[in-house]
Amino acid sequence: MASNSPTKLSLCFILLIFTCIQSDAAQLQETKITVYLQDRTRGPNTTVVPIAGIHGKAWTFFSFGTVYCTDDPITEGLEESSAQIGRAQGIFVISSLDGSIAHVLLSLVGTNEEYSGSTIEIQGPSRQLEKAREVAVVGGTGKFRYARGYVTFETVILDLANSYSVIRCNITLAQDLFPYDRCT
Ligand SMILES: *[C@@H]1O[C@H](CO)[C@@H](O)[C@H](O)[C@H]1NC(C)=O
Ligand SMILES: *[C@@H]1O[C@H](CO)[C@@H](O)[C@H](O)[C@H]1NC(C)=O
Repeated sequence: MASNSPTKLSLCFILLIFTCIQSDAAQLQETKITVYLQDRTRGPNTTVVPIAGIHGKAWTFFSFGTVYCTDDPITEGLEESSAQIGRAQGIFVISSLDGSIAHVLLSLVGTNEEYSGSTIEIQGPSRQLEKAREVAVVGGTGKFRYARGYVTFETVILDLANSYSVIRCNITLAQDLFPYDRCT
């Protein structure tokens, strides 16, 4: 200990910082996944339901204060019959007075062999009138621990007659693979 001159200590400190920056870059991994949300707003297989809203006003996708609960099947492909890999479960509330923004709190919950036990947490405002709505990924579990990034939602099928739509969800994640190893 006595041999630790101030110069030696500061050199150590600089080396430590350098190592941290290096490993920070090396341990981030980007993942891109495209999935589809199968959405039904009416009928026996309804997956989106308004559960609260402003008294005396219509509860719609564009009226402020309306709260929806959702449990959409997540499929690998566009077709409803394609392999189901999870469920998109959560709530969203129309959060802007003009009705154009929905605040989304959504979990993508894996159910197939590959993703069972893994989730992706999505949270933030969704500009409902935009073609591609970008919302933040704020965390995850299982295979997606420490995930952060963003998703885009795009309505790729809109069948109003059957109250059926399909939303393409492109997920882009940056995962810190070894968060506890850094700087040691
Ligand atoms: C509802 O789902 C069941 C089971 O998947 C299916 O057999 C039925 O055809 C669906 N009904 C409608 C109206 O989509
Ligand atoms: C989402 O991914 C699909 C397929 O890779 C691509 O064609 C589409 O342009 C992407 N959408 C956005 C908003 O990036």
